[in-house]
Amino acid sequence: MQQRPAVETILHQDALNLRGKSLLSMADLNREQISGILQLGQLLCDMHRRREYTLRYAYPRSLAMIFEKPSLRTRVTFELGMRQLGGAAVALGPAEIGLGTRESVPDVARNLERWADAVMARVHAHSTLIQLRDNCRIPVINGLSDREHPCQILADLLTIQQKKGRLQGLRLAWIGDGNNVLHSLLLGCAQVGISVAVACPKGYFPLEEIVRQARQLAGEDPDADPDASAIQIITDYNAAAEGADILYTDVWTSMGHEHEQLARIQAFRAYQVNAALMSRAAPDAIFMHCLPAHRGDEVTDEVVDGPQSVVFDQAENRLHAQKAILLLLMGMEAEDVGLSG
Ligand code: CP
Ligand code: NVA
Repeated sequence: MQQRPAVETILHQDALNLRGKSLLSMADLNREQISGILQLGQLLCDMHRRREYTLRYAYPRSLAMIFEKPSLRTRVTFELGMRQLGGAAVALGPAEIGLGTRESVPDVARNLERWADAVMARVHAHSTLIQLRDNCRIPVINGLSDREHPCQILADLLTIQQKKGRLQGLRLAWIGDGNNVLHSLLLGCAQVGISVAVACPKGYFPLEEIVRQARQLAGEDPDADPDASAIQIITDYNAAAEGADILYTDVWTSMGHEHEQLARIQAFRAYQVNAALMSRAAPDAIFMHCLPAHRGDEVTDEVVDGPQSVVFDQAENRLHAQKAILLLLMGMEAEDVGLSG
C-alpha cells in the first residue's frame, strides 16, 4: 500500500493548516494548500479507481448541505464523498429551511454547528456564505455563489494535472461569460502558474477587483501594464484561443440570471467553442466545461463529445478533490482514518 504513508503525511503537514478553516474563495488557499489538496485528491482518485475505501472515521462525521439553487454534481459528490469517508450528509433545499425567510442566516448557522461537523452551501449571494461562516464554529464550504465556485476549480486543476502532467507554464483560454467559475479559475490559475486569456463580450467581463487580486496572487503589480500580465481580458475569442493548451467555457446564462437570457443569447452568440475555434488552440489542447452544458450555445456537440473533451473527468474529480477538502478542513487525525499503522 504505497499510498498510505503519503495520505498520512499530507493530512499531517503542519504547513497546510486547514483544520477548522472555511473555504469560500480560491484566495482563501495559498499555493502550498492548493498543492496539498491536489496531491491528496490524486491519492483518493487512485483509491477510488481500485474501489479501495480504507478511510474510516473513528466517529462518523457529518456534513449539512444547503441548496438555494439546483445541482447534480455538487449534491452527488459531496453526499457520496461523505459516505465513502464513513460519514453522512444531509441536503437541505430552499423549501425546507427557508434560509433568510423562515429563519435568519445567523440562526440557521447557530443550529447547524450543534449537529454537523461542516456546512457546504450553494447560495445566490456570496454574502450569505460570509454570514454563515461568521456565525458558526465549523468550516463553511462554498458550493457555488454568485461570486465564486472554488470546489469546481480544485477539481479542474486536478484534471489539468492528470491530463497535462503539470500546471506551471500552461496557457488557458476562457471563452464566454465573466462569471463565478471564471473568478475562481483566475484566482486558482494565478497561484499555480497557469496564464489565462479571457475573451468576453463587452459588458460581461469578470469583476475588476478579482482580476486585480489574481494579478497580485500571480506576483504581479496590479497597477503595472495589463498587456504584460499573465491575465489578459479581451473581446477577441480567436486571439484568446490561439495556441492555448486549454479551452474552457461555461453557460452564457448562470443560475439566477435567467431574466437576462434573451439579451445574453444576443451578446454571446459568437462566443461558441466549436471545431473552428478548437483548431486555433494547440493540437493537444483539452476542452473543459464545469457542466451542465447548453449544447449548441456555448459549445457544440462535436467539441463536448470529441476526443479533446475532459468534461466528465472534471465531474469525476469533484468527488476526489472534495473528499480531500473535507478531510483537511475537518482536521482528521491519523488514527481516525486508520492509516497510522
Ligand atoms: N459544475 C457543477 O457545480 O455542477 P452542479 O451545478 O450540477 O452541481
Ligand atoms: N456559472 C454556472 C455554473 C454552474 C455550475 C452557474 O452559476 O449557473
